[in-house]
This record gives sequence, C-alpha cells and structure tokens, in this order.
Amino acid sequence: MEIVIDRRAKTERRAETGRARKYPVIARPDLTYTPEIAAATAHLYEKVKHVIPAIEWPALAPTIKAINDLKKVRNAVIIAHNYQVPEIYHGVADIVGDSLALAREAARTDADVIVQCGVHFMAETSKLMNPDKTVLIPDSRAGCSLAESITAADVRLLRQRYPGVPVVTYVNTSAEVKAESDICCTSANARQVVESFGVDRVILIPDEYLAKNVAAETHVRIITWHGHCEVHERFTAEELLEYRDAHPGMEIIAHPECSPDVVAVADFTGSTSAMINYVKSRKPPKALLVTECSMASNIAGESPDTQFVAPCNLCPHMQRITLGGILESLLTMSEEVTIDPAVASRARRAVERMVNLQS
Ligand code: 13P
Ligand code: SF4
Repeated sequence: MEIVIDRRAKTERRAETGRARKYPVIARPDLTYTPEIAAATAHLYEKVKHVIPAIEWPALAPTIKAINDLKKVRNAVIIAHNYQVPEIYHGVADIVGDSLALAREAARTDADVIVQCGVHFMAETSKLMNPDKTVLIPDSRAGCSLAESITAADVRLLRQRYPGVPVVTYVNTSAEVKAESDICCTSANARQVVESFGVDRVILIPDEYLAKNVAAETHVRIITWHGHCEVHERFTAEELLEYRDAHPGMEIIAHPECSPDVVAVADFTGSTSAMINYVKSRKPPKALLVTECSMASNIAGESPDTQFVAPCNLCPHMQRITLGGILESLLTMSEEVTIDPAVASRARRAVERMVNLQS
C-alpha cells in the first residue's frame, strides 16, 4: 500500500505553547484487500482469529495496514484502553493498558502525535502530559457518564462545605474538574492516593461506588459524590450469584466501579489491567469479568485455559472509536484535543502528582 504525501502542508499552532507544526497532506489510501495486505497482516490476524471470523478480515485488514503505515509517516503512537475492540487493541495499538498505565505511557512517549483510542477524558490526560504534542481522538463524542456527573463548580462548592479536606479526583473527569482538585487517582491506585495525605478525611469524587469500595479498605473517612459508571452500575450481585450457581468453579472478577454489593461477591476486584493480570496469572477454568465486553475478547486468545462466561456490558462511548475513525484522524489530523492553558496548568499538577506517587 502506498502512502502518498502531498508537498502542501497543514500548519497547526499549539494552543498552550504557541509553537507551530506542519503536517504533510496525505492522499486517501486504496483500501482493497490484496495478497500483499493479507501477507502483511497475517501475524495480526493470528491474535484476533478467536473473535473475528476469517470472512470478516478482508474488510478490516486494509484499514489496519493503512493505519500502521500512516503512524510511521506521522511519527504517531496509538494509545488504547483495555476496552477497545480487538481489531484496535491487537491490530493497531502501540500501547494498551488501564487509565493509570496510559497516563504514565503518555508522559513517556517521544512520538510527535498521540492518537488516543479511548474516551475523551483519557485524551485530555494525554494532552495534559504532553502540551507540546498533537493529541488526536477519533471521535470527540466519546464521553463518560462519570465525567458528565460533576462540574468544576460542584468541586468548588464541596471545598467550601468541607474546608481543608483534600480533594482526590478520579481521572474519569474533565480537565476543569481536575484543575479544582489536589490530586487525581485511578482504579489502580485510589486507596494509595487517599492514604497519601496522612489525614483522617478525604473527598474522593465523583464515583460513589469506587469511593465506597475504597472506604471499605481504609481507615480514612471518605466524602463522595453521586456519579456512577453507566456500564458497571448495571451489574447486580443477584445475577452474578445465579451465574456462579450455573458454573461451579467460576471466578468472579470485578471492576471497582461496580456497586459494593457486586464487589462483595467477587473473588477479585481491581483495575482493568489488574483484572487481566489476575486471569493470566491464576488461569481460572472459568471467569466472569464484571466489566466492559471487549476485555474478555481481547485476552481470550492469550488465556486458552480460561473460558469466559457472560454477562458483560458494552460502553457506548468506547465503542465510538473505530478503525475507520482512526484512519480518518491520521489522514486529516483531527479531532485535535485542546485544553484552555489556564485550566491545563492546574489540571496537569493534579495528574502529575498521581503519576509521580511511588507505586
Ligand atoms: P481503568 O482505569 O481500570 O482502566 O478503568 C477505566 C474505566 O473507564 C473503567 O470503566
Ligand atoms: Fe466511563 Fe463507564 Fe465507559 Fe469507563 S465504562 S468510560 S467509566 S462510562
């Protein structure tokens, strides 16, 4: 497949730093499935053949090949969350992980361009860590019910109501909300962050269930908010117990955005990467991942000893990111993530404090 670069260039000016950058204009690649493309993508198909039927591969492979070629031309890196669909997770992503890993990796990359395959708050976090780089999100409508549940004004009111109490903000929030907080946390480090202040009371927002699950593990008293993940709040302890009855020996592995009732019946609770590591290291004969559906699809090929049992719920926001959208992003250098510089400097401090905490 040929990538044709036009001599004309698109000039972008960095909002925060004022630096200008030029991008070559690239002609749309031909997306015909050819023997050359079949050969070039055969090693990738091996990783997804357990979930993508062979008959569907010719429709995906040309776009995967075009994206991987374009990444080199743009000096771009694709950072993808564990909830991305298998053709993205295994086909085009350079870095995959949970929110904490993605924030750390975004801080380390030396690529000029980051394409964030995940939801908008994740792309904002990458931009905060890289004000000088171009951060693209294939569909900026990819939101999050937790990020939508709270505003910067809400955080200011909480501070007035609880003067002097540190504010820990889950990364699933807008940059404006992060800017009002002392430090961020993710599902991987929430307890560690809460305890890092050495005080007896902390505000942990906006996920009520994450806050309650952390409160059950620490002596720190936690004030929270009424935000919920629309995907994880749908699971109930009753349905999980029914699955356990039907599948003796099955392990229930939950994300801490689930309700405390669900966490109480789980064999293990952790971030998306901790869930994956648990399955890979313990190799349970049957596992129920109480989280977004793509997780099980992504690791099923690497976990041949484990049978994954339904149910799972789809995150409609994560599902907005598609191969076609990623290709379009790299061709047109859009949609670019920008953050008001005054907000960015304060929000960055909260994310950096988290990233710099010793793990
Ligand atoms: P992780 O940080 O565990 O990857 O979770 C992010 C998320 O949005 C889960 O719904
Ligand atoms: Fe937000 Fe829930 Fe989707 Fe994660 S799964 S991005 S918390 S809505």
